[in-house]
Amino acid sequence: MLKKSILSALLVLSATPVLADDIAKYQGESRAVIGPFVKQLLEENKKAIKEGGPDSAIKVCKDIAPKMAGDLSRQHGIKLTRVSLKVRNPLLGTADEWEQKTLKQFEERIAKGEKPETLEAAEIVNEPAGKYFRYMKGIVLQSGCTACHGTADDVEASVAARLKEDYPHDQATGYVAGQVRGGVSIKRPL
Ligand code: HEC
Repeated sequence: MLKKSILSALLVLSATPVLADDIAKYQGESRAVIGPFVKQLLEENKKAIKEGGPDSAIKVCKDIAPKMAGDLSRQHGIKLTRVSLKVRNPLLGTADEWEQKTLKQFEERIAKGEKPETLEAAEIVNEPAGKYFRYMKGIVLQSGCTACHGTADDVEASVAARLKEDYPHDQATGYVAGQVRGGVSIKRPL
C-alpha cells in the first residue's frame, strides 16, 4: 500500500510540467550573462571603427566575440553562441533547428513592429540527448554594423576583399539597419 502511494507520487512528480518559475529563473540568469556580452561587443565595435576603421573592427566579430562566448560557456556550464540564418562563419554561426525556428519568429515579430530590445525567447525542450533550457536574444543590425554586413554600397572595397578571402562562403551581407542579424543563443543542460 505504502509502496503503491510512493510510486504514484513519483509518477505525479515526473509528469508535472516544468514550473513557469523555473523558466523565469533560467531566463533571468541568461539575461544576466548575455546583457554584458552584447553591450561589450557593441562598445568594442564602436571603438574599433572610430580608431582604425572597419579593417581594425574585424577582430571584434572575428576574435573577441567567439573568445568571450567560449569563456562564458565554460564559466557557466552552458553553450553560448552567436547564430544566424545567413552566416559568415558556418562553423560557429549555423543555427540548429530550435534556433532557426526562433530566428524566423524574430523576423516576423520585427516585421510586425516589435522593438529590437524585446526580441527574446525562452523554452524548455526535450531532445534525444536530454532536457535543455533554450534561450535566445535577438541581434538587430545597427548602423555601425553595415560596414561589414551591409549592402555593396556600405562595405569598402578593401573590407569586402578581406572578407571574401577569409570567408569564401559568406552570406552575412546585404543587411540594412533594423533587420534581424541573428541571435545570441544559450543552451543549458538541465
Ligand atoms: C569590421 C567588420 C565587422 C563589423 C563592423 C561587424 N561585423 Fe559581425 N562579423 C564580422 C566577421 C568577420 C564575422 C565572422 C566571425 C567568425 O569568424 O566567427 C562576423 C560575424 C558576426 C556574427 C556571427 C554569425 C555569423 O554570421 O557568422 C554576428 C551575429 C555578427 N557578426 C553581428 C554583428 C553586429 C550586430 C555588428 C554591429 C554591432 C557587427 N557584426 C559588425 C565582421 C564584422
